[in-house]
Amino acid sequence: TKETLTDLFGRYHNYLRISLTERCNLRCQYCMPEEGVKLTEKPHLLTTDEVIKIARLFVKEGVDKIRLTGGEPTVRKDLPDIIYNLKQIEGLKTVAMTTNGLVLTKQLVALQKAGLDIVNVSLDTLVAEKYEKITRRKGWNRVMMGIDLALQLGYNPVKVNCVVMKDFNENEIVDFVRLTKDRSVDVRFIEYMPFTGNKWEVNKLIPYKSMLGMIQAEWPDFQPLKNAPNDTSKAWKVPGYKGQVGFITSMSEHFCGTCNRVRITADGNLKVCLFGNTEISLRDAIRSKCSDDDLTALISAAVKRKKKQHAGMLNISQMANRPMILIGG
Ligand code: GTP
Ligand code: 5AD
Ligand code: SF4
Repeated sequence: TKETLTDLFGRYHNYLRISLTERCNLRCQYCMPEEGVKLTEKPHLLTTDEVIKIARLFVKEGVDKIRLTGGEPTVRKDLPDIIYNLKQIEGLKTVAMTTNGLVLTKQLVALQKAGLDIVNVSLDTLVAEKYEKITRRKGWNRVMMGIDLALQLGYNPVKVNCVVMKDFNENEIVDFVRLTKDRSVDVRFIEYMPFTGNKWEVNKLIPYKSMLGMIQAEWPDFQPLKNAPNDTSKAWKVPGYKGQVGFITSMSEHFCGTCNRVRITADGNLKVCLFGNTEISLRDAIRSKCSDDDLTALISAAVKRKKKQHAGMLNISQMANRPMILIGG
């Protein structure tokens, strides 16, 4: 029922993000420390069947959108299978995925066939050498080809996520906006957020208002658009351009008041806030043969512990949390 997924502030959570793996084929600096992270042993990760079981429970309680994340979801072998099985769940309207885009040219046709409705691609620079610096791997060309393929296959729009960091890519903001000229691409500029091990500093953050200023200097008629009630992003566009531009302002203007998301980590924990560190293990509950009613009660109790909003960027930069790669965004 709606009650299960409604928190003490009246927020109803109809959007579930499921992390499918802790692994990734990139090593992005803002997502994980150089030395990597300690990976959960395979037996402690959710199986395909457990993922589907959890998804079913949430959909029964009202979730209608699931986003698959990671790590990098495409490194998981059974991804098409998971998508296909999710799409069989009655009541689930949308299955989305957030990916680094590296292997879309190899996989997207199959993923679309399995039923993938939406794809968001992460890309932080338009310069191949800088891509290698931020991701500590090669692959810029492949990502661009992946975005093109997604457009060709009819994904409309393709959202491109760009984490903006001072002295790294703020000078590319206008170039990213130009990507929206002739393509159904929504470029979303994301404020850099602190996670364990990512060396976040407040002076590396480029706040929304500064980004906006840089764009308005180039396009004085840059235009704000209406947003859907639970959007993470504030939408704008250059008049006449095909795609849109968005800003995900988690730090300078958080959107916790309209938050409708909860998360499952690859090791099976329910995490009710990106910046909350109370988690409960649905994996353990399932493996100890809890009934569906007991599982639902556990989920409800966790949702009711969700805080009104995150604690503010300086506090969350100090708190114990997971590295981003172990959350999935
Ligand atoms: P849509 O479903 O298309 O709206 O995408 P999304 O923004 O929900 O998901 P995506 O995985 O593309 O994430 C883009 C950025 O938004 C990432 O930096 C996420 O960490 C951030 N984000 C997503 N959900 C939340 C949230 O609930 N709270 C906060 N603070 N940030 C979020
Ligand atoms: N700050 C902001 N966004 C981040 N992402 C990963 N780490 C961070 C961070 N520290 C983004 C990725 C991906 C999305 C799921 O989260 O680029 O697009
Ligand atoms: Fe929701 Fe937490 Fe993100 Fe705020 S910080 S929008 S409460 S997940």
